[in-house]
Amino acid sequence: MKIAVTGKGGSGKSTVSGALCRHLAQLGHRVVGVDGDPNPNLGISLGVERELVETMEPILNALIAIGHTHDDPTPDPEDLLARYGLDAPGGVRLVATGKIERPTDSCLCCGSHMTTRQFFGELGDDDRIVVADLEAGINDLLWARPGPSDVVLVVAEPSAKSVEIARRATDVAVDLGVRRIIGVANRCAGGDDLARMTESIGAAEMIVVPEDPAIGHADHLGRAAYDLDPASPALVAIGALAEHLVRHPAPEAAPTD
Ligand SMILES: Nc1ncnc2c1ncn2[C@@H]1O[C@H](COP(=O)(O)OP(=O)(O)O)[C@@H](O)[C@H]1O
Ligand SMILES: [Mg+2]
Repeated sequence: MKIAVTGKGGSGKSTVSGALCRHLAQLGHRVVGVDGDPNPNLGISLGVERELVETMEPILNALIAIGHTHDDPTPDPEDLLARYGLDAPGGVRLVATGKIERPTDSCLCCGSHMTTRQFFGELGDDDRIVVADLEAGINDLLWARPGPSDVVLVVAEPSAKSVEIARRATDVAVDLGVRRIIGVANRCAGGDDLARMTESIGAAEMIVVPEDPAIGHADHLGRAAYDLDPASPALVAIGALAEHLVRHPAPEAAPTD
């Protein structure tokens, strides 16, 4: 299974992705966490020590450093994962696609998008779950290009801007043929907020992750809430999402005549 996590900046993508990876690993699955953000920080939400996250070499930066050019053969994603991935807590394999460090690295954006596509498109998922924490906005969803057998998590917090981007992300995922689109109403208290978010986002399924001080506290310390307070309400909700995902794989395609 491959899961693309999309939504506006600040909506909670990395929080949800990190905790989801840890819960899925705890359920016994092999998990690869792909950090598609050119300002990568999924590692923190996964529970990797901050110093280690900072020393991690994203794929594109590593390829540029060894003189790889567009004329060279495209590296095998499996090889990239082995070479540049990092073993995160819980047995999750973490890989970052690219990091912007200097003005001269401006081509990284395009390059790391390509890496995201390659990882999402080519990495085998027969015996593992790939969770891609995508760059903010919808552009990276187009690059990742999830398909009918993939899952898209559209994360939004209750603000109108966040919900509007989530709505468009859902439309894009539908147009890409994704059959399993789950809206994540993050920091949502339920009631009217949930009704509004559900209607606007338009995803077939909707789950709520409540506002939870444990998330802010963990972020403040640069730690994963999963390690500090796994029984906190948001973590429990993301755990329920993990169980739901593995129990109910993407629906079968409708029969064609
Ligand atoms: N359920 C939640 N309860 C409280 N704070 C949250 C929750 N989800 C996210 N946050 C906070 O919102 C901010 C953005 O979250 P983050 O996961 O980094 O978003 P994104 O990856 O979409 O940019 C962080 O400061 C995080 O601590
Ligand atoms: Mg993020």
